[in-house]
Amino acid sequence: MKACFIGLGYIGLPTSIIAAKGGVEVLGVDINPKVVELTNQGKLHIVEEGLEDLLREVVSAGKLVAKTTPEVADAYFVVVPTPFKGSYQPDISYVEAATKSIIPLLKEGDLYIIESTSPIGTTDKMAELIFTERPELKGKIYIAYCPERVLPGNIIHELVANDRVIGGLDEASTERAMAFYRQFVKGELHPTNCKTAEMCKLTENSSRDVQIAFANELSIICDKAGIDVRELIALANKHPRVNILSPGCGVGGHCIAVDPYFITADYPEEARVIGLAREVNNYKPLWCLEKIKNSILSFELEHKRKPAVAMMGLAFKPNIDDLRESPSGLITKLFMKEVEDMEVYIVEPNITSHKDFALTDYQEAFDKSDIVVYLTAHKEFRTLSKDTDKIILDFCGI
Ligand SMILES: NC(=O)c1ccc[n+]([C@@H]2O[C@H](COP(=O)([O-])OP(=O)(O)OC[C@H]3O[C@@H](n4cnc5c(N)ncnc54)[C@H](O)[C@@H]3O)[C@@H](O)[C@H]2O)c1
Repeated sequence: MKACFIGLGYIGLPTSIIAAKGGVEVLGVDINPKVVELTNQGKLHIVEEGLEDLLREVVSAGKLVAKTTPEVADAYFVVVPTPFKGSYQPDISYVEAATKSIIPLLKEGDLYIIESTSPIGTTDKMAELIFTERPELKGKIYIAYCPERVLPGNIIHELVANDRVIGGLDEASTERAMAFYRQFVKGELHPTNCKTAEMCKLTENSSRDVQIAFANELSIICDKAGIDVRELIALANKHPRVNILSPGCGVGGHCIAVDPYFITADYPEEARVIGLAREVNNYKPLWCLEKIKNSILSFELEHKRKPAVAMMGLAFKPNIDDLRESPSGLITKLFMKEVEDMEVYIVEPNITSHKDFALTDYQEAFDKSDIVVYLTAHKEFRTLSKDTDKIILDFCGI
């Protein structure tokens, strides 16, 4: 079987590699020539531990070849970005472009699968697009949606071990898609229809967003009420059926902070909790910023000088280098716009340089600062002294 993966990013590239390792002949396609060049050289253009060895192995065995345009295959996978545009409207133009690029290549018996996180109805729309141009293929090809739920950093294991939800346009499509994934997925494969599979991915990330919003809202209430929110949550979680997450300085990344909008955009009247969770999580960084500014004012009143401040962490979650949609990054950016004549140390131990900020070593920043602001709970920060006269603003549970 020959499979063509369109989009060799964080998800498409590892999936291509694992499929090739599972015995599939893979053509990886990306419009970015640099990505294609590196892939053919067996070099990863993304950061994922252990994956480069596997890439080298499948490339040198001739099981994975990358190109900038698709070619005739037996199965096509769309793994391109699905961002939002304007006022949080989903942008499926990349999925459309990828689909259009393979329509002329389709033949009877082929399999077409969308893996990109997509708004409800995208698979139906793409089927319509295909059959409008190629009406003779109606009922003769298999079309399905199969979302991805891997955790970057643990992709090799999760691509194989995670359960998959597979929703076909019809039962035959679901069956055919399941047969493909069975070649390399050891987790269970759960059949459904394409709309349910699309909504399933959006539901998973919206569920996380709502639960984080609950924790973030509690943190704001507790701050006003003079209660330690982390002690409160630990105590509440002693209840056998309560499991509250930890508050932070917002929600970041390109999944949880993005996907709920795919529901609210299409169901604005109905998706009230989901929409409100987005608002709460978007508000949290602004609330943190106010806290920092108030703390600086108090310091100035007491000490008759400006404090030195350490902003600890830019990544959107602990121990990674991913800065996308990061609330810590947003707080730091807004803070730097507002402060004048102040000593500020910006710390992110997982990157070596930043396009806007000069970075400082975490220990040096801690030592030189009067106010230490913990934004991302990186492991390094847990080694810093807790027995200190410094003012500590801990938004992430260090
Ligand atoms: N990264 C994750 O952790 C994750 C997890 C689950 C789901 N997803 C979803 O998977 C999809 C892909 O995400 P990603 O993180 O891999 O994106 P990415 O930005 O890392 O990679 C996408 C790749 O697609 C290429 N591309 C864009 N248009 C193309 C076209 N028409 N033809 C060929 N190549 C094209 C880009 O050049 C890029 O290399 C998104 O819908 C995302 O929401 C991502």
